[in-house]
Amino acid sequence: MNAFTRPVGRAEWRADRWGMLRCLAVRDETPSTKTFVLAPDDGARIVYEPGQFMTFRADFGGEAVERCYTLASSAASERSVEITVKRKPGGRFSNHLHDALVRGAGIEAFGPAGRFGPASVEADRYVLLSAGSGVTPMLSVVRTAADLGIDLDASFIHVARHPREIIAAVDLVPLMRRLPNLRVATIATSAPKRWRGTVGRLQAQLLADLVPDIGTRAILCCGPEGFMADMKAAVMAAGVAEENYAEESFDFGAMEEALATGAGPTRRITFAKSGRSFDCPDGLTILQAAKAAGIPIASSCAKGMCGTCKCLMTAGNVAMAHNGGIRDREVARGFILPCSSRPNTDIVLDR
Ligand code: FES
Repeated sequence: MNAFTRPVGRAEWRADRWGMLRCLAVRDETPSTKTFVLAPDDGARIVYEPGQFMTFRADFGGEAVERCYTLASSAASERSVEITVKRKPGGRFSNHLHDALVRGAGIEAFGPAGRFGPASVEADRYVLLSAGSGVTPMLSVVRTAADLGIDLDASFIHVARHPREIIAAVDLVPLMRRLPNLRVATIATSAPKRWRGTVGRLQAQLLADLVPDIGTRAILCCGPEGFMADMKAAVMAAGVAEENYAEESFDFGAMEEALATGAGPTRRITFAKSGRSFDCPDGLTILQAAKAAGIPIASSCAKGMCGTCKCLMTAGNVAMAHNGGIRDREVARGFILPCSSRPNTDIVLDR
């Protein structure tokens, strides 16, 4: 079997447990951004929908650190996935990927998971709005549509700080050729004089100029929290219905919110296997209380999307408000997401 041979009887990659992906290739996208092509050694098929993400885990001196990255690749391939990662100053995980995830290296991965993407916001016509690394799910949408022959009607508007930071810029023209109803606009907040694209901020008026029928379209938006807040306000003002708007962000800095406790009863959380226990004050999730008590629970998105923190609850009950990181049949079997669960009683977890 060589690299072009499709392995016979390929199993499906298990999205509900950690596994090892091998780096097949690395390519530079911008001076600070690389794309990593990853695949399982056994040729298992990785089945996902455009807009989904995977969680990656690396060891930092005995501390396991996890991060989510949206898949940027075409979901039609199933043989490999691609993540596109910007190196950030002080970004422990992104720097580690840039330095250590070379061709042939392995990395632990969990998922794919998540509900963001055209599969969850059904529409005939879309606007794909992204800023910075938020372009990755949009690339997966358009690459998948092109590969599957889907006649995608979409306005794809991407904002970068500078033209040299536009990810996959060279891929967009060929994609437009393959998708006749795809229109692409790239906007740079600053640019040299010779650049022919739009320079400035993406505001409501520019959005209306670029997509005059925006009120009739479904919107997928991904980028920093401030960008998404501005875009949501603009598209709602333009008449987009709430159910036709979806957004996604993995801005971990924004997740370090202050813990606000309530006046209700404190519940006791016990780990049956390790025997460890801690208090969960009213208002906190089990994950927040565990962190406050210094007890590690593997987690990543902290938003109920990735499924990393999933565990079996053997006693008690919780109020759980998740974002797709757990399936109904898992909930029926007693699994919960500690990041999205507030205890109604004392709780015992199977860990
Ligand atoms: S940490 Fe992602 S679902 Fe709990």
